[in-house]
Amino acid sequence: MPIEKELKNIKKDVSLAPFTTFKIGGRAKYFFVAHSQQQIIEALEQAQKYHLPFFILGGGSNLLVSDKGFDGLVIKIQNSKIERKDSSIIAEAGANLAQLLTIAKNSGLSGLEWAAGIPGTVGGALRGNSGAFGKSIADLVKNVRVFDISTRTIKNYSTKDCLFGYRESIFKKNKELVILSGEFVFDRDSIYEIEKRMKRYLEYRKAKQPLECFSAGCIFKNPEGFSAGKLIEKCSLKGKRKGGAQISKKHGNFIINLGNATSQDVMFLITLAKEEVKRKFGIELEEEIEFLGF
Ligand code: EPU
Repeated sequence: MPIEKELKNIKKDVSLAPFTTFKIGGRAKYFFVAHSQQQIIEALEQAQKYHLPFFILGGGSNLLVSDKGFDGLVIKIQNSKIERKDSSIIAEAGANLAQLLTIAKNSGLSGLEWAAGIPGTVGGALRGNSGAFGKSIADLVKNVRVFDISTRTIKNYSTKDCLFGYRESIFKKNKELVILSGEFVFDRDSIYEIEKRMKRYLEYRKAKQPLECFSAGCIFKNPEGFSAGKLIEKCSLKGKRKGGAQISKKHGNFIINLGNATSQDVMFLITLAKEEVKRKFGIELEEEIEFLGF
């Protein structure tokens, strides 16, 4: 029986570019939108049954998809319930980080203000331990609910179990652990003060980062004690173009899609930045973004 018969609403040959903030990438052989925890698990089980490689897609914001696409099943995580309990909020993996922030703010719950203007989903933010201004999502996590493919069970991971680090977590290292939801604990503050901080953070990022362009956010992690953007700037690479891709003139750690960039254009600039920073400073830049289909 073909997988189409078992997984209702699965689509074939879907272009992935519109599902990424870079707006780059070829087609997925199979594409399935999972609206609930149950559907996520169902899709993962079908992928196993049909020996299909799978990829969990959140908001597509920290991601470069190859022009060749992906010869497997992309599972777009779209379970998005958010529920508040006193000063905690439980958010499903497919909820937008922005929605979580809005609900927290409106409830007078503080701690996530640094995320103002950051795209992506709760699941994606947990997986990559998203952060800004010296803070990260790990600071708020009480526990994370995951589906463990290897044992086919749902488990609760405490903050400690998540092994959070700078843009790292156990979920990034172990593909068998798929995030279903997270519980976050906040401090209380006035909506006015929370809004003020959100505005300040957003203004800073708007001034320093090309938020108005298609990009994948910061390409590289900051090497300890350095800013990757500054290192790239010192190599005179800001504004450097390859095809439709360009190292942002505003921030050296962003590559922007001017409209018709290919994944190869972006890869060229990534390689160039790594080579030049290594040559000039002896520092190895490590990518923060994820790659699919390479
Ligand atoms: N700088 C330059 N040239 C550049 C870029 C930056 O001189 O081209 C300087 C800035 O002027 C500043 C310093 O480098 O003095 C740091 O820059 P910025 O404040 O923009 O922060 P960043 O270290 O480049 C980090 C995170 C961002 C986050 C900001 C704000 C990483 C890799 N990046 O950037 O996160 O928004 O701090 O807190 O950790 C992301 O992860 O996708 C991301 C964009």
